[in-house]
Amino acid sequence: MPQNAQTKDVASLTQEEAGAELARLATVLHAADEAYHQKDAPVLTDADYDSLKRRNVEIERRFPDLKKEDSPSEQVGAAPSEGFRKIPHSIPMLSLENAFDESDVTEFDRAIRKFLGMSEADPLAYTAEPKIDGLSLSLRYEGGQLVHAATRGDGTIGEDVTSNALTIRDVPERIKSAPELLEVRGEVYMSHEDFAALNARQAEQDEKTFANPRNAAAGSLRQLDSRITAKRPLRFFAYAWGSVSESLADTQEGAINRLKGVGFATNPLMALCNGTADLVAHYRRIEEARATLDYDIDGVVYKVNDLGLQARLGFRSTTPRWAIAHKFPAELAWTQLEAIDIQVGRTGALSPVARLQPVTVGGVVVSNATLHNEDYIAGRDASGSEIRDGKDIRAGDWVQIYRAGDVIPKVADVDLSKRPKDARPYEFPEECPVCGSPAIREEGDAVRRCTGGLICRAQAVEKLKHFVSRGAFDIEGLGAKQVEDFHCRGWIVELADIFLLEERDRERERRLKDVDGWGERSADKLFAAIGARRRIHFHRFLFSLGIRHLGEAAAKDLARHFNDWSPLAAAAIDAAKEPAVNDASQAALDGSPAWKEFLSIDGVGRTLVRSLVLIMDQEAERASIGRLVRHLEIVPPDAQASGSPVAGKAIVFTGTLSRMTRNEAKARAEALGARVSGSVSSKTDLVVAGPGAGSKVKKAAELGVETIDEDEWLALVGDA
Ligand code: IVH
Repeated sequence: MPQNAQTKDVASLTQEEAGAELARLATVLHAADEAYHQKDAPVLTDADYDSLKRRNVEIERRFPDLKKEDSPSEQVGAAPSEGFRKIPHSIPMLSLENAFDESDVTEFDRAIRKFLGMSEADPLAYTAEPKIDGLSLSLRYEGGQLVHAATRGDGTIGEDVTSNALTIRDVPERIKSAPELLEVRGEVYMSHEDFAALNARQAEQDEKTFANPRNAAAGSLRQLDSRITAKRPLRFFAYAWGSVSESLADTQEGAINRLKGVGFATNPLMALCNGTADLVAHYRRIEEARATLDYDIDGVVYKVNDLGLQARLGFRSTTPRWAIAHKFPAELAWTQLEAIDIQVGRTGALSPVARLQPVTVGGVVVSNATLHNEDYIAGRDASGSEIRDGKDIRAGDWVQIYRAGDVIPKVADVDLSKRPKDARPYEFPEECPVCGSPAIREEGDAVRRCTGGLICRAQAVEKLKHFVSRGAFDIEGLGAKQVEDFHCRGWIVELADIFLLEERDRERERRLKDVDGWGERSADKLFAAIGARRRIHFHRFLFSLGIRHLGEAAAKDLARHFNDWSPLAAAAIDAAKEPAVNDASQAALDGSPAWKEFLSIDGVGRTLVRSLVLIMDQEAERASIGRLVRHLEIVPPDAQASGSPVAGKAIVFTGTLSRMTRNEAKARAEALGARVSGSVSSKTDLVVAGPGAGSKVKKAAELGVETIDEDEWLALVGDA
């Protein structure tokens, strides 16, 4: 029986049938749009609408000449042809703190109660739900219509993957009975079955296969051509939200149910729990169910259920205080260790790497694993005590590999019964394998470090790679590979050279466009991308310097406190002047004003300060950072939080606060861009005093610093 064009598979349509079918779809979809938006009386279910829309796209792809300018598929932005458009997140997309055992969960609950001033006996409910092993996505709906979909990116700015997200069947293009503005957040993942089928197809076509479903999902979502994404069946679970024009509910559970009601897939294993024992019991249930699920999960996420309490708890720099991910234990496998190589990192650390006979650990093929440091290889810990019953690790050994989630796999154990007769103990190098400088181990440090500093090629290149990496300058077109190449050519030797690349190119010292793999357009694009990064947020700049112990969270804490590079540099130089800085007499240092200032910053500890100070104490390093800063416009954090009335202000809390704990007040003020300090000085802008306040209020009065009470503070920050 001949098939009707309306029901025929797209692949079997003739050109003529396709033309007629496109015309029909345009009419039907147009009428559906009008009914939905203007008459508020939908004529199609969302699923039918999406499926017609997809059919329209598929036909147009097969017969591109038939596509009309006003085609329904043009209503949502088409895939960008080069790279992804960047989308700033209206509310940052954060990550989660991890818990690895029950004591971490107990501590999580204890810290929350302390922050909120609750006793152990007070009831406190949490939701517990699987942690999906995929990648997060934010979907923005305005008036019920998807306006964009963005990846997490660096948490602040994501990539526009709207056309790709529309190929996901769990992502509706339109939703009903939802707030005018709704940003839905959740995880994109691939089922085991679809993953196996995709890999089989890829292998058949001699294309790259994926190590696990998460990589496959990420690779598929981040395709420039959404036709490819459309062939990769992705799924989506909603578990959170960003900006909303009206509150979704009073509780986490209620909000998730609301998202479900609006048409999103939510995870059926979410449960409401009371207290830590209940949380752990649900964790065990989910752990048991794990093997039967058709998708990967790597733990259980706990969230405070009451959204009012969530708001009070707020966020640290990169994670919420009200949630934690309780991870599943690692996976193990045995294989043979072929060799031990040494890698030199950006801070000079010599890291031993195990080269392995490839082995699958929890679904991922592992061929390299970390061996940590020389003590670890020798079977000792940092204090000299035995680990692994004192068994050392040798090339040729059979070793056990341990892999937990995203973390780099490590060599956990050795099987001595299989040790080859000729296996020799490993001798850790005492010279840098890259530059030949002595590699020394300072007392108390588990790591041996190359002393070559900026002259060590490995350190210089790793520093450059870090500088251009994602959380740092993130310069499009300038990745690890290009940096390495430019360094080899002597074009980028230090950080500042990146910003001189174009100028020197123009001076015709050399021409990037003549280099293999580059052309006029790509060179111009790179110069433009570098130019765009001359303006950089202070915390990113700090993180980019690649200073040991200075991670993204600490960079934010330092940036908030100092607001700009010059005061921070001045304080570090002052701190370096302390005579005791080199003899490790910490007590003397702690008392000095410069160290006191650093140590008063929440999240900044002695190890970080010492590392920062040691860098700023070296003339060559200082000069190199100075040359870099000249090319940049560093954006202070208070300019970023400029909407807030307390941004950039120095605030002191004193006395007893009745409606929040001191920690809570401090966290809230810092989130609004204020700097919170423990003592009143002429630099203080505002003192918030509760009952019982004494000397600080007096001092504020003497200095003419404004003092307000708790109610006035709450009114000022809009929490009254
Ligand atoms: S909540 C503000 N819930 O895990 C925090 N995250 O390690 C919002 N993830 O970036 C996240 N399943 O990509 C949340 N049920 C779940 C999750 C989940 C997976 C991912 C998410 C997040 C990462 C943190």
